[in-house]
Amino acid sequence: MNNQLHNTVTLTRDLGGVHRDLVKELRASGIATPELDARLLICHACAITHERFAASPERGVSEAEFERIRHGAARRSAREPVSRILGVREFWGLDFEICPQTLDPRPDTETLVSAALEIARKDGGSEPLSVLDLGTGSGCILVSLLHELGHATGVGTDMSIQALELARANALRHGVAGRAQFLCTSWHEGLNRTFDMVVANPPYIPEGDLAELEPEVALYDPRVALDGGGDGLGAYRKIMPALPALLAPGGSVLLEIGDGQANDVSAMFRDTVRDISFDEVRQWNDIAGRVRCVAAKRSPRP
Ligand SMILES: C[S@@+](CC[C@H](N)C(=O)[O-])C[C@H]1O[C@@H](n2cnc3c(N)ncnc32)[C@H](O)[C@@H]1O
Repeated sequence: MNNQLHNTVTLTRDLGGVHRDLVKELRASGIATPELDARLLICHACAITHERFAASPERGVSEAEFERIRHGAARRSAREPVSRILGVREFWGLDFEICPQTLDPRPDTETLVSAALEIARKDGGSEPLSVLDLGTGSGCILVSLLHELGHATGVGTDMSIQALELARANALRHGVAGRAQFLCTSWHEGLNRTFDMVVANPPYIPEGDLAELEPEVALYDPRVALDGGGDGLGAYRKIMPALPALLAPGGSVLLEIGDGQANDVSAMFRDTVRDISFDEVRQWNDIAGRVRCVAAKRSPRP
């Protein structure tokens, strides 16, 4: 009798009911977006599209699917981001694999990609363009740029071998590996050439603010991808003095920045970069209206 009851319950488990239960569970764990996260975990575990999920709430959930949903639910309740559970994050319309050694790419960083494309299309048109991405992580910035700009080539650097392996896999996945190189080094060390464009989303969170981060960030993003030192500006101080040797005349440098860092980083172009001058320093806002990207264009002549 008990077995029969157990079987009946198993067979009548459906998408709609599982979703309702999971939403309650995630909400109780303090997850800010329980409906969306539950849907993402269920669609992934059942290998169905969001359209199928919405259209068939009565679809049965098999035992194996339910096990996978439970596994995802336990991880999400421990505040692991959905993208890390799925192992993939959408960025600039492309799917990027991520791993524990890579930052989970943020929508904010699309501001830098958008600014870089605007500059590349205005300055270069269809001319060959070389791009250097310092601290490439998953490769999301470089791969997105190469995917958009068929005439561009690029180099991505990082300290993490695992991140670089994944960046290469992401370049392969999106058909740009033939135009991308990845180098394990500290920022620009070992590079002895110039580029038409230098981009970077360096770690910029002030050390003292790290303890305040949401668990999704503090527990799952690598510290080396977040920690910008005492005032958050440590990486910029290392990158800026290298620009004369890295940036071709007429080339542009674009840097992602954190909240309230726009003035300090903009001033660094003037105060810490010797031997070259910049024609203009521009700022781009993210969708929340905060300055997220600072860019400077090197004068074509000394
Ligand atoms: C904020 S994450 C950005 C990752 C990726 N570009 C993105 O936008 O998602 C900073 C990256 O810089 C890398 N990094 C930190 N210190 C570095 C160093 N000294 N040299 C090279 N890369 C470094 C980290 O490993 C991490 O991948």
